Amino acid sequence: MSDRPRPDTAPGPAAAMRIVHLSDLHFTARPGRLTAAFDKRLLGRLNYLLRRRGTLHEEWFDLAVPRIAALTPDCLVCSGDVTCVGSPAEFARARARLETLMQAVPVPLLYVPGNHDAYVADRDCRAALADTFRFLNGRRCRLEQMPFALRLGNVSFLMLNECTPTGPFSSAGQISPAAAEALTGWLSAPRPPAERRVLIGHYPTRGPDAAPLPRRRRLGSAGLIIEALAQGRLDLSLCGHLHSPYRLDGPGPGMEVCAGALTAAGSLSVVDIAGDGRLSQRFLDLRPA
Ligand SMILES: [Fe+2]
Ligand SMILES: [Fe+2]
Repeated sequence: MSDRPRPDTAPGPAAAMRIVHLSDLHFTARPGRLTAAFDKRLLGRLNYLLRRRGTLHEEWFDLAVPRIAALTPDCLVCSGDVTCVGSPAEFARARARLETLMQAVPVPLLYVPGNHDAYVADRDCRAALADTFRFLNGRRCRLEQMPFALRLGNVSFLMLNECTPTGPFSSAGQISPAAAEALTGWLSAPRPPAERRVLIGHYPTRGPDAAPLPRRRRLGSAGLIIEALAQGRLDLSLCGHLHSPYRLDGPGPGMEVCAGALTAAGSLSVVDIAGDGRLSQRFLDLRPA
């Protein structure tokens, strides 16, 4: 497989940008090795078998591919949790499924890990995450380079990794001190009036009612993002983690969009950014009738 970056096919400066945002696909696969039975993956697998299996519909992803292509996006965003327990077998499955989307819609795909993708500290799982991250991002960056900034048209993106392996009963995330410093620098840089700043992370800063999430599920240091949205230094925060889609407008001009789980809620978010920077958002419901 070539290690060269995939060419970006974004529109030129001041052109309109359409972002199609999907999240929380939670592809699964049978455990590949016996050691998987002795770490957090055991709990994750049980959780999947007892609770999640009946709620996840992988086939909705297949149905979504032509719908996404018909939207003619300029950019795709996947805000994490492509797996259930972050095993090499699940990452292989996620890569294969997402490759069909990448071939059908040959535009930049920007993927950040979710807490289920960074589930355990197992060396093989971490290597599978790193390889998948590089593959899905068109080989334009490596996991250890995050936070990673890139510009497409009149949009400046910052991709944030908020996920590291946690204890058995925690799904909390964190912005590391180094990531917080990079985020602050990115938010403070001068910009032309029509440029829009879009942050891509896994965690919402608040729940659908704008209240903080429970401690064991929330993002530490989320106040940095909330403050930037309120002050208009950040225009849009794209995230997932919660499986029902919702949008938070205000306080202030910034917007946060949780895309929801495509394979559980059938949801997809579409953001249009006009050449003058005006921003509009809508959700699509892809569940079969
Ligand atoms: Fe999830
Ligand atoms: Fe998550």
